[in-house]
Amino acid sequence: MSTGRFTDRVLFITGAGSGLARATAKLFAAEGAKVFAVDVNPDGLAETILAIRLAGGTAEGGRCDVADTASVRDAVERAASVFGGLHVLVNAAGVGRSAASRRSTRRSGRASSPST
Ligand SMILES: NC(=O)c1ccc[n+]([C@@H]2O[C@H](COP(=O)([O-])OP(=O)(O)OC[C@H]3O[C@@H](n4cnc5c(N)ncnc54)[C@H](O)[C@@H]3O)[C@@H](O)[C@H]2O)c1
Repeated sequence: MSTGRFTDRVLFITGAGSGLARATAKLFAAEGAKVFAVDVNPDGLAETILAIRLAGGTAEGGRCDVADTASVRDAVERAASVFGGLHVLVNAAGVGRSAASRRSTRRSGRASSPST
């Protein structure tokens, strides 16, 4: 059940195309936050944004490489411009479960389960 405790708050979240950040973005959106989600993987990111919107939440975002200062600066400026400010940062981009799963699949030749 949503408490709306992040209503009118803006979340900027990296790595949101998969895994922990995708789940976190959905939770914040369900609590009323406006989510600006970024990732290097545009397909995963699009899935996250669509899922939030289909659930009735507010989400925007775009491609951003957290290893590239100019890319991060540009994304933060876009987020602030789109939503009029920033309140919460979650920096979860990294090499985690999905990447490990892809490596394992390549080695074994087996399909992996879809990411969350
Ligand atoms: N999943 C866990 O149980 C767990 C536990 C402890 C720590 N972590 C750490 O948390 C982070 C996220 O884990 P996860 O399981 O959600 O991983 P994940 O692989 O599912 O998601 C990571 C996301 O980061 C994105 N990403 C990678 N490099 C990027 C970059 N340079 N710029 C922007 N986005 C980038 C990927 O495209 C991917 O969508 C990792 O650093 C991982 O090591 C995960």
